[in-house]
Amino acid sequence: MAEEIREPKSSKKTILNVSGLKTYFFTGEGVIKAVDGVDFEVKKGEVLSLVGESGSGKSVTALSIVRLVASPPGQTLDGKIEFMGRDLRCLEDGDMRKIRGRAISMIFQDPMTCLNPVLRVGYQISEVFRFHKQFNWAKSMNESIRMLKSTEIPSPEERAKNYPHEMSGGMRQRAMIAMALACEPELLIADEPTTALDVTVQAQVLNLMKALCREQETAILLITHDMGVVADMCDRVAVMYAGRVVEYTDVFTLFSEPAHPYTEALLRSLPRLGAKRNRLDSIEGLPPQLNRLPQGCAFSPRCEYSKALCKQKPPPLTRLCEGHDVRCYYPINGG
Ligand SMILES: Nc1ncnc2c1ncn2[C@@H]1O[C@H](COP(=O)(O)OP(=O)(O)OP(=O)(O)O)[C@@H](O)[C@H]1O
Ligand SMILES: [Mg+2]
Repeated sequence: MAEEIREPKSSKKTILNVSGLKTYFFTGEGVIKAVDGVDFEVKKGEVLSLVGESGSGKSVTALSIVRLVASPPGQTLDGKIEFMGRDLRCLEDGDMRKIRGRAISMIFQDPMTCLNPVLRVGYQISEVFRFHKQFNWAKSMNESIRMLKSTEIPSPEERAKNYPHEMSGGMRQRAMIAMALACEPELLIADEPTTALDVTVQAQVLNLMKALCREQETAILLITHDMGVVADMCDRVAVMYAGRVVEYTDVFTLFSEPAHPYTEALLRSLPRLGAKRNRLDSIEGLPPQLNRLPQGCAFSPRCEYSKALCKQKPPPLTRLCEGHDVRCYYPINGG
């Protein structure tokens, strides 16, 4: 009886459930296992971060969810992507197009890849309202100015007439946010949304994105290299290494009791007060080549705690305790 009550409550909260996701690239240099059995879920209104070094499969995970992986050479071979009760892998292309930009929208590192350079910004945001909500031109334009205003762009009526190149990087990213949130999506996928901006503008844009999403109860899947951004922005974190999630927990536990040696190494590489700001790739050794993965744990060649078992077969993702999963035979902090 008690389970019957609990079950619908938790399933109502989860809007995206990714399980066993595999996306490989079939190239002349072999099969690149970019995403190799990824599981995580995103709950309504929360911020989940995918974090990990360059090449760990974060962007390919995001692109797989919205089915925008370049194919060929890429192919999503396995897994479920349940979004609001539907498996996105099974949808017709037309239905998927309706979901993109409406229920799920995306922001990328470089707004110029999403904004059309030859169209005015206000026009481009209006098109979202025209396509997804079938508003007429006048109403769509009013709505796009309202959205630009909500991102605190000064003189939004004037700015709506700008072409993307007439805006600064920070302003373009705000315009992207306006466009992405135009239809009040359930999920915003933000892939390194502010990496190209300087640090002060970065913080402003991230805070704005978070505030607007909180107002609309939009969940964010935030992809980042930056553990500082994770600490500021996120509720939960999935740490990725070589195409797999190696640790999955809430942000507080991740910082206070990291269980995976890779997470520990990431945290150690965080800049300290007074030190020069580093990127995360200061961990010793190189990430593995995804077409030549070691037989055992992919992190074992770089891991200071590695033992014989680690070199034999890859560890499974195991539950340390409720809400804390780790892919390691010998987790730190009492595993
Ligand atoms: N079109 C493609 N063809 C072949 N390999 C690809 C393609 N796109 C991505 N890959 C490979 O998939 C792997 C994962 O790439 P992905 O872009 O997801 O990494 P990432 O974690 O987002 O890294 P970054 O932090 O640098 O953005 C990489 O090894 C990459 O080279
Ligand atoms: Mg990427």
